[in-house]
Amino acid sequence: MKRVLVTGAGGYIGSVLVPKLLANGYAVRAIDRFFFGSNVLEKAPNLEIIQEDSRRLSSRQFRDIDAVIDLVAISNDPSGELFEAATWQINHEGRVATAKLAKASGVPRYILPSSCSIYGFQKEVVDETAPTNPLTVYARANERAEIDTLKLCEDDFSVTVLRQATVFGFSPRMRFDLAINGMTYGAFANRCLPLMRDGTQYRPMLHVQDATDLMLKLLETKPSLINGEIFNVGSTANTYQLGSLGKEIAELVSEIIDSPVDIEWYGEPDHRSYQVSFSKVERTLGWQARWNAEKGCREIVEKLRSGHLNRTSQTITLDWYQQLSQWHQIIRSVEMYGGILDIDRGNQ
Ligand SMILES: NC(=O)c1ccc[n+]([C@@H]2O[C@H](COP(=O)([O-])OP(=O)(O)OC[C@H]3O[C@@H](n4cnc5c(N)ncnc54)[C@H](O)[C@@H]3O)[C@@H](O)[C@H]2O)c1
Repeated sequence: MKRVLVTGAGGYIGSVLVPKLLANGYAVRAIDRFFFGSNVLEKAPNLEIIQEDSRRLSSRQFRDIDAVIDLVAISNDPSGELFEAATWQINHEGRVATAKLAKASGVPRYILPSSCSIYGFQKEVVDETAPTNPLTVYARANERAEIDTLKLCEDDFSVTVLRQATVFGFSPRMRFDLAINGMTYGAFANRCLPLMRDGTQYRPMLHVQDATDLMLKLLETKPSLINGEIFNVGSTANTYQLGSLGKEIAELVSEIIDSPVDIEWYGEPDHRSYQVSFSKVERTLGWQARWNAEKGCREIVEKLRSGHLNRTSQTITLDWYQQLSQWHQIIRSVEMYGGILDIDRGNQ
């Protein structure tokens, strides 16, 4: 049985990937701080859960591992700007250190899920060979992680970079700070869809099931096809201008709930806009996206309707990291003798 080490395993993508790996016969070592809750992964016989910081890993955790999928990250632009130092440490330095540990431990395969956001702003459709244009800390840290992990590849250490489009769809660690998910929630729950100005920006999208299907496929692909390679992951069919995507989702949800849905514009005009070619991943790996925005939107509405899903601050990455940081300070300032109201009563 092959064993896969997944970092960031309790995250939006990780909590979909881990059960899929288990269902496909892999054993999984799941590493995460579990900032978004430890209940996102169900216990299973071949699942080993390790609560640890990705900046404190050691060779012990890489023993008997056949592949690493290094999902861990501070995972969006606004969080990257606010927690800049941590973003560089976790997204760049930490992931390079993980790749080095994997290589030194004889792990044959390392996969880095990066982001199409490193294209930043582009006038033409770009492929993997085009110059990048990272506009944020998050995108720059991803680019550095790509460069420094790819340098490590050798015949017996395969490194593959996935530049993923913006992901959407349901996950046990739900994120409503992602475009399609947030639009769907606003339209359904408030009859008001939030839309980032000015709506002309292009953004490729990728369903979380398609993203994780590809990761599984990579585990079975011979290294000669993927070692040292970068793949854009997404599809032309799911590349949208945010304005028309918002209108499409507003109309769809309005039809489902039989009520009008308004559009509420927010923010300064978004300077990130990119159209990306996905022909390399389709040609080389025979992978194709199976989901589109409409199907993903219907899936989320179903979950919201069933009462199994809600928008809490835990589902908004930036809000949650800010809250954790604020509570950390408050708790540290009032905690005594190991507690707040209930304290450790020994040694009085
Ligand atoms: N979701 C998207 O739209 C998208 C798009 C492109 C690329 N990506 C990339 O995919 C990866 C996963 O994204 P996601 O959406 O699942 O993000 P996420 O925020 O849901 O998951 C990240 C996980 O990492 C954990 N984590 C953060 N810092 C840690 C640390 N120092 N030590 C241990 N655990 C830590 C968090 O607890 C969380 O569970 C990221 O690298 C992200 O940049 C995501």
